Amino acid sequence: MKILLLPGDGIGPEVVAQGRRVLEKAAALFGLDIEFQEGLIGGVAFDATGDPLPQETLEAALSSDAVLMGAVGGPKWDRLPPAQRPEAGLLRIRKGMQVYANLRPVRVFPALVGASTLRPEVVAGVDLVVVRELTGGLYFGKPQGRFAATAGEGGERAVDTLAYSRAEVERLVRLGFELARSRRRRLTSVDKANILATSQMWRDVVEKLAQEYPDVEVQHLYVDNASMQLIRAPRQFDVIVTENMFGDILSDEAAQLGGSLGMLPSASLGEPGRPGLYEPVHGSAPDIAGTGKANPLATILTVALLLRYSLKAPAAATAVESAVARVLDEGARTADLVLPSFVEAESEEAGGQPGSRPPTEIQMCSTEEMGDRVLAALAQEVAG
Ligand code: IPM
Ligand code: MG
Repeated sequence: MKILLLPGDGIGPEVVAQGRRVLEKAAALFGLDIEFQEGLIGGVAFDATGDPLPQETLEAALSSDAVLMGAVGGPKWDRLPPAQRPEAGLLRIRKGMQVYANLRPVRVFPALVGASTLRPEVVAGVDLVVVRELTGGLYFGKPQGRFAATAGEGGERAVDTLAYSRAEVERLVRLGFELARSRRRRLTSVDKANILATSQMWRDVVEKLAQEYPDVEVQHLYVDNASMQLIRAPRQFDVIVTENMFGDILSDEAAQLGGSLGMLPSASLGEPGRPGLYEPVHGSAPDIAGTGKANPLATILTVALLLRYSLKAPAAATAVESAVARVLDEGARTADLVLPSFVEAESEEAGGQPGSRPPTEIQMCSTEEMGDRVLAALAQEVAG
């Protein structure tokens, strides 16, 4: 199996290094044959080649079995023209690999119930997946751009286009139904069908496919209501299917249920048999890059998804996820997993519970120490 590593910018290299260690360990323990290759994407790629996604990187991605990415972007490249920005490289690799379905599972680990700013009884037991459409919609619609003023218009105009073909919606929604079938059989389709034509077609597609999946319970929610329901009663959700930008926004919101964006993995998948693109949902966090503060668990959980969906090694995937749960139960934490002390203090003053204090003694870990802990726990998982 050929794995392409694309560490990218900011904390990307630090978290991918830990992801790689876990993947190597899992391969050794479960008898998988893995070969690594490394490539450039994002700001570092622009600096080295003038292109945030060099052709060589896309080719290596397409001839791999799976791609493990860190993160892209940073203030250094913020003023570049749009096509040269690190984010453009990310969008192009998603499009170039045709990974149209972005799975973002949100699981609230019992040990982290108190790390959320939401009440423990609201977030405990949350286990949902946002299935975000990734290669269409508002991110890719044409025309897009800023256009000089023409006579009679109020100066410069800027345009983004939200467009979908029925086929694009269908393949995504179908994947959502299949996933729901393997889980709790509940599908929530999120749209803005009271306003948007794309959403009205989206709803039609969901209704039509629902006939093929009578065993899956379907719910439609407008995106504004969905964002409210996510923090009001998040346990009602199993699989959420939604448009690219709605999914971008809702997945960051959902991440807070689990305490930190630093815990959220993702898998971007296309047609069966094609390579998947795996990336933690968090960004490049340039402010903490190089300080050892980054939480590698989102990347490590992303490695679990890679094992499950691309390497077809479900036992290894589950072992990695259990290893993460185990180190959290034991009290290992990175900085993002502990509520800032002022939140604690204010909450206690207001008569609240000291929610973020875990029952066990906590041990603050650097990025690498957290990687060490997971490796040890993984060995224990396998030893039984
Ligand atoms: C994400 C990120 C990206 C996106 C950015 C970095 C372009 O926010 O993966 O959620 O908007 O898709
Ligand atoms: Mg995002």
